[in-house]
Amino acid sequence: MLITTKELFQKCYARYAIPAVNVFFMEEIHGLFAAAQQANAPFIVQTTPFARDYANADMLLSMIASAARIYPDTVYAIHMDHGYEEHILDAIEKGGYTSVMIDASHDAFDKNVERTKLVVEKAHEKNISVEAELGVLAGVEDDLTVDPAHSFYTNPQEVEDFVKATDCDSLAIAVGTSHGAYKFSGGQGLQLHILEEIQARLPGFPLVLHGGSNVSPEVVERINAAGGKIKTDAKGVQEDEIRKAIPLGICKINIATDMRLLWTMVNREFFRDKPQEFAPTTPGKTFMDEYKKFILKKFDLFGCAGMA
Ligand code: 13P
Ligand code: G3H
Ligand code: NA
Ligand code: ZN
Repeated sequence: MLITTKELFQKCYARYAIPAVNVFFMEEIHGLFAAAQQANAPFIVQTTPFARDYANADMLLSMIASAARIYPDTVYAIHMDHGYEEHILDAIEKGGYTSVMIDASHDAFDKNVERTKLVVEKAHEKNISVEAELGVLAGVEDDLTVDPAHSFYTNPQEVEDFVKATDCDSLAIAVGTSHGAYKFSGGQGLQLHILEEIQARLPGFPLVLHGGSNVSPEVVERINAAGGKIKTDAKGVQEDEIRKAIPLGICKINIATDMRLLWTMVNREFFRDKPQEFAPTTPGKTFMDEYKKFILKKFDLFGCAGMA
């Protein structure tokens, strides 16, 4: 059942977090919905503009709608991740989304407010909620790269003014994560004291953690053992950091890199171990099963299993 992103956040605040999973292709959608049905866990399925270009937006949304019929006991929302005005207006016009993210965090505060506010007005008319972002994450996200020198943490002193001025419904913050597989090259980890300060200024307001992938060392090792060249300083968000972030208001945790790594592992091992085979459905099925198992673990970690 499709429900609003807003309702998911109202129920989970400071109790558990909702995984927001980027999808690009069919096998992920199967794995995600199958896991959610089994665990009775709420989730957010999200598409980036890149995913909409790759798969075609209509194809993606149709696959999601189809999955909801195949797995009828699921409770989920549909979110547009990292959208610009053009993508969001398109999504508002064509429908299908319960929330959108306006990615204007690279602009200065006033410009970010102005762009966010405009989108909020249009989205709210259609009952679509808006995630805004304050602070800039480093890393690679689809086709956009931000080098660490141009990233910065969210300034807690700005969050109240930003939320008040924009009327956004949730806030993505930069507290040490980055996009991609190399999050903590300096070993710095999540800046929980910044998160604490943000929550103190916005009590009850849903916060969003981008760059939420764990980057499993085992998966990286298996990729490299099967011919991959992922650098060994790959590192993601640790489980205890996630557990500490949830009571501090993190309601939504975005995950994309972990899926890419898992897909790479499954396919590299397939090509290494079954050189005589050439059926895409063989690694496709392995991926679905592995992805389902991976998502089930996230539901447990985020505390949302049994909450749908
Ligand atoms: P990861 O790179 O950690 O998967 O982050 C994904 C993300 O924030 C998508 O918006
Ligand atoms: O933001 C959306 C991207 O799909 C995230 O990709 O996992 O490379 O950061 P990433
Ligand atoms: Na951003
Ligand atoms: Zn992101």
